[in-house]
Amino acid sequence: MFQPNEDEIQSLVGQMTVAEKVDLLSGRGLWKTASIQRLGIPSIVMTDGAHGVRYSTTQIDAGDNDEDSLQAFLAVVGQQADASGGMFGTTRPATCFPNGNLLGCSWDVDLAYRMGEALAAECQDFGVHLLLGPGINIRRTPLAGRAYEYYSEDPLISGDIAAAVISGLQDNGVGASLKHFACNNSEIERTTTSSDVNERALREIYLAGFERVIGKSAPWTVMSAYNRLNGIQAAEHHWLLSTVLREEWGYDGLVVSDWHAIKDRGAALAAGTDLDMPESQPRKARLRAAIEAGDLAPEVVDAACGRVLALVRKCKMHERRGAPADLDAHHALSREIAAESIVLLRNDGKTLPLDPERLRELLIVGDGAVIPVIQGSGSATTNPYRVDSPFVQIAARAGDRFNVRHLPFSSAAQVGLSASIKAIVQATSGADVVVVFAENEKSRHGEGNDRDTLKLAASHDALITALAAAGRKLVVVLSMPDTVEMPWIGDVDAVLASFYAGQGGGEALARILFGEQNPCGKLSVSMPARMQDIPGWHTYPGEHGRHVYSEGVFVGYRFYDLKAIAPAFPFGHGLSYTTFAYETIEVDKGEIGADAGCTVRVTVSNSGSVAGKEVVQLYVRPLAPGLKRPIRELKSFAKLDLQPGEARTVSFTLTQRDFRYFDTSRSAWVLDAEAFVVEAAASSRDIRLSATLSCRPESSALPVLSPNSPTALVFAHPKAETALVDFFFAALSISSAEATALVAKTKGSFLGFYDTLSWYVGDSVKESDIAGVFARLNDHHGEAPSS
Ligand code: BGC
Repeated sequence: MFQPNEDEIQSLVGQMTVAEKVDLLSGRGLWKTASIQRLGIPSIVMTDGAHGVRYSTTQIDAGDNDEDSLQAFLAVVGQQADASGGMFGTTRPATCFPNGNLLGCSWDVDLAYRMGEALAAECQDFGVHLLLGPGINIRRTPLAGRAYEYYSEDPLISGDIAAAVISGLQDNGVGASLKHFACNNSEIERTTTSSDVNERALREIYLAGFERVIGKSAPWTVMSAYNRLNGIQAAEHHWLLSTVLREEWGYDGLVVSDWHAIKDRGAALAAGTDLDMPESQPRKARLRAAIEAGDLAPEVVDAACGRVLALVRKCKMHERRGAPADLDAHHALSREIAAESIVLLRNDGKTLPLDPERLRELLIVGDGAVIPVIQGSGSATTNPYRVDSPFVQIAARAGDRFNVRHLPFSSAAQVGLSASIKAIVQATSGADVVVVFAENEKSRHGEGNDRDTLKLAASHDALITALAAAGRKLVVVLSMPDTVEMPWIGDVDAVLASFYAGQGGGEALARILFGEQNPCGKLSVSMPARMQDIPGWHTYPGEHGRHVYSEGVFVGYRFYDLKAIAPAFPFGHGLSYTTFAYETIEVDKGEIGADAGCTVRVTVSNSGSVAGKEVVQLYVRPLAPGLKRPIRELKSFAKLDLQPGEARTVSFTLTQRDFRYFDTSRSAWVLDAEAFVVEAAASSRDIRLSATLSCRPESSALPVLSPNSPTALVFAHPKAETALVDFFFAALSISSAEATALVAKTKGSFLGFYDTLSWYVGDSVKESDIAGVFARLNDHHGEAPSS
């Protein structure tokens, strides 16, 4: 057992040679850390991913320096997942849970925790110590190839779901890797492009989810990202990895690179990326040379080695070799999570749920009903040990009560498309209800590939349009990485968004279709009506290696609200088979000041006739804020389980920070608005109750002055006038009355202070003198991100 205490860790580091330190900081092969037998240091095993464990026997069990391992890695990252398991031949079967895109719609942290526990059990079974997830990059654009892995366009949901998954893992002895830090929001030129993001958007959106998770669940590792951030490689970004992550947020775990993300190993180590993965001989050689040349401070190297050892200790202390995972229980859990997350987008005329007693003929159309797309493609994929077929699960409900048939229909381009659509329209003429399983267009998608369209497969759009035109009672089930355009939305009866539902998705869908499960998922992203409405569309995906996030803090629903654009379905939307009445909202305070948050109590009842769950969303809307802000922002949520007629009161705690914005001129979170409206809502566009709190803003910070600051700004500083009079009195040998008169002359000019002053005094006062006066007045300002 490897259980050194802190002193013993220091002592081990002290005994290491430079070569051993380099080994320890550089991994071993694709998926392990290096062992150092001389010092009794074991290695640990890590692998992907956050919706299922991908244990490759050829890559992990085979030798560490397998020449083919890079090929094997690239093959996995570039793979297109299918349910048949072909390319997973060397991957051990494991549970494929709903992907991040669907889990985010659960808005259920307890379920996320249970999924983390199950993942930990499978890791323990396989001997995996560290799971390389979850990823919480903001779903800034639905085109992003890895959108399916991530939870939301909002940092609050992303953060809370991830924190729960991580706690579920780590409470059961398996480490997590919170990734990809930061701003890896699209796949285009993903290892080189610079995400150019202003600091306010970083703080309020892109870093906020990470900050939340670090505070709630202390992930054992954080993975730095592939991309550059404001011009600097994320893995080499000192401000990001040291100033913000470690100093401001107090993170004391390990930072691991994304696979081959490091360009300059010395810079990465100095910036805060401790562990370079996977092993690379050239990078090791360069690190050794940098250490030997004294280019890296020895304490930086030793601290990183200490963090690797601390991680190895945690992993080894908690390993439970030989504890078999209960895959059947995990299959049941994957069904439950999917059932609690699938979103009922539309249900015209209460088409759903289907009543098996009144159905005569049900037709299920589409290949996805038999071979469902249960996960996205890339490094996060899992070899599912079992997959529910939606059709089989639906047919199991028929018994001798109704006829059910499946009609194959591919999402691939087909010769004779109109003939096959015609045949399906005819074949469904006697059906009471037709359920179409539809998929997105797939020429580009998954890890390494952003989509270039939000369209469904052309054949599926055409089929749905034809069936709707023929008057069929039509239910569409969507499998997709992120939103799709639905030009036929007004013509179909019901739509279920199942995203990537994992191996239990087929059963989950059957339960929802027949009302055994009341749908209770809500969208964790907005669904724009068309691709052109995507926030930041005009600067996506950037040019010449730079991607400007032009929408700033106005990401997702914040953008649609700002621009008053109606999305096809708003953030937070999801229907139920029952109805909920929002009855009362109470806030324990009438005013928000700089000293305390508040508690909000919301009472909601089930006003329908079946049991159901409602995701109650709490938004904060600032009135007349100091800076332009999103109209409303999600600040808390709760999922309530209510029997018909039952009412429950849920209590939300809002903190100070929930009312503040990040002011880059002060490097601080600032409270400044006339008032705040706290809103209880069923979606971001369905506000049911609100309460207003007045705001006692903090006194505004002093302006930062330079010689060319406009004079109005200079004299807004309460000490500027006196400082200038004193300075002129001494420097120009004039009386204090003359100095006061000189200062008075400069007032009222719209020009810069020094330009104005020099009109009266020529160059008898130097610009540097004024800079000196102002420097003494200026507040201290923190380190800012590079650009
Ligand atoms: C991905 C990471 C993943 C790593 C190891 C990279 O390509 O970006 O998310 O954990 O590979 O598979």
